[in-house]
Amino acid sequence: MPEPVLATSGMNAFYDDFQALFSISVAVAPGEVVAMIGANGAGKSTFLKSVAGVIPTAPESVRFNGQPIGALSADQVLRHGIALVPEGRRLFPSLSVEENLVIGAQLGRTGRWSLDAIYALFPVLAERRRQASTSLSGGQQQMCAIGRALMSNPDFILFDEISLGLAPVVIKDIYAALPAIVAGGQGAIIVEQDTSRALSVADRVVCLQEGRVSLQGVPDELDRAAITAAYFGT
Ligand SMILES: Nc1ncnc2c1ncn2[C@@H]1O[C@H](COP(=O)(O)OP(=O)(O)O)[C@@H](O)[C@H]1O
Ligand SMILES: [Mg+2]
Repeated sequence: MPEPVLATSGMNAFYDDFQALFSISVAVAPGEVVAMIGANGAGKSTFLKSVAGVIPTAPESVRFNGQPIGALSADQVLRHGIALVPEGRRLFPSLSVEENLVIGAQLGRTGRWSLDAIYALFPVLAERRRQASTSLSGGQQQMCAIGRALMSNPDFILFDEISLGLAPVVIKDIYAALPAIVAGGQGAIIVEQDTSRALSVADRVVCLQEGRVSLQGVPDELDRAAITAAYFGT
């Protein structure tokens, strides 16, 4: 692999005394889309939160463009160019669509993403720009959450449960937007509960099981039985 953009090495994560991740080593090459799969509770969100600085981890256990970022706060990680689209959208309910998007810009950097660029990517958000974010459908909220992350002009983007609970037609729209989102960036990690979809969009797949990497590989080279075993531990 060429020099990775993002690499975790031996990353552990804890909630008080409970250890949720055990020595996770995952590397993302420039431009790669890595899909992370695994059962509920496997540690996928914890992994993304640890990379994003939401949960502290050892300084050297996450490197981004060669720099150790494991000890940085979420705001600092965002300013380094890594944005998280959290599970459950987490929009500000009292704010409009546009206000939610503008907040993303305030925390981040300048770059190619602007309100106009987000509205071109997801035209439905332009139509609803003045509406409260709570009035949006689940799919529109996900688009707004993605837009908010993009407004920080990240080089690298983390999506937690990108399609969970969304209507098939919306999932199609979001995945159709993915190449434009990733192009021009350095890479992405997508947590996706639909394994088939994960295999079809990703350059590489990582499966977690009970806080450990149980399988990683290129989709074409992984067989279904191995994935099932890595996923369920059967
Ligand atoms: N805030 C928390 N406090 C304590 N334990 C947590 C917390 N969040 C997650 N966990 C535990 O950490 C493990 C991994 O959870 P999580 O990363 O959310 O898994 P996934 O995203 O794969 O469903 C689970 O055992 C879960 O119960
Ligand atoms: Mg999760």
